[in-house]
Amino acid sequence: MARLELKSAHGDYITVVGPGSLGRVREVLEQERLACPRSIVADTTVGPLHGRKPAAAMDCTALELPCGETNKNWAAVEGICRHWLAIGLDRSALAMAVGGGIVTDTVGFAAASYLRGIAWIAAPTTLLGMVDAAVGGKTGVNLPEGKNLVGSFWPPRLVIADTATLSTLPPRELRAGLAEVVKAAWIGDHALLALLPDTTDIGYDSLTPHEWETLVARSVAIKAEIVNADEREAGLRKALNLGHTMGHALEAATGYQRLLHGEAVAWGLLAAATLGRRRGLLSADGEETLRRAVGGLGSRPGIADLDAETVCGFIAVDKKRDADGIAWVLPTDDGVALDQRVATAEAVEVLKELQRG
Ligand code: GLY
Repeated sequence: MARLELKSAHGDYITVVGPGSLGRVREVLEQERLACPRSIVADTTVGPLHGRKPAAAMDCTALELPCGETNKNWAAVEGICRHWLAIGLDRSALAMAVGGGIVTDTVGFAAASYLRGIAWIAAPTTLLGMVDAAVGGKTGVNLPEGKNLVGSFWPPRLVIADTATLSTLPPRELRAGLAEVVKAAWIGDHALLALLPDTTDIGYDSLTPHEWETLVARSVAIKAEIVNADEREAGLRKALNLGHTMGHALEAATGYQRLLHGEAVAWGLLAAATLGRRRGLLSADGEETLRRAVGGLGSRPGIADLDAETVCGFIAVDKKRDADGIAWVLPTDDGVALDQRVATAEAVEVLKELQRG
């Protein structure tokens, strides 16, 4: 099992990565000198698969929330907090979230707010959750106006990434999660690209359990290095937004219905590659390598029918905007360039190019 250290103003914490770690949750908690949680919160899909067993092993309550992005909202936070009140959770208690980024973001935000903050553990069960959402302390929920518009930095006490849970993940979600791995690799460790499955027909069996562990641990290590240097996203952490400016706009323009987040990031990485090349930040070889890595993840829903101007209109309301507009992150041959200003007209041009294929 890999063990990585994350730094935070709220207290440093550990991410453990390895197949079967959730099945050995009591042992892991003992090793990390943590008490058993009193409440496990999952969603109705993941709860029966991966939440109920650890709940039984630790004799704690299990709450299962409705699934999906539309349930990542105030009502869910209220429901969780009222459940915690009902079971008498006090300030010294630990809660645990088991599931994808929607669940860990929502439960983390509830933990940040309940009794003005209780400790929690994240057990991500999606690849995207393991390599990105559950690591780094961002928590939050959506508003009707957009994603993650309310939230806080409230890192868990421990992240348990049981890579064996990936075996129950639909292949489409695995592919989507791998887009965040490509992003991490491009930012911090190009050699990681060589560990990606060498088939576009990707499933859990495309890699060995040890290879999944390595892939996740190395992706977390890249994120840890960044977050340890810049938890509050004053500078370096912005690098993690590579592929996300166009990605978020595509998600918003399609009502969060068509594309999984990782699929939108895959399109966003391709748009960023074109922009990087146009600006001379990325060589032709670099662009080709990045395109091949994204292409290697297999198919994703198309975007050819979308109106490019409408999509790029959503870039203007991205929550990352500052007084000067949106600062893009663009790929260079050996990493990324931060704070790149891209006029809307150029973004539209690049998107149209992407749509033509
Ligand atoms: N998902 C981007 C970040 O954690 O900063």
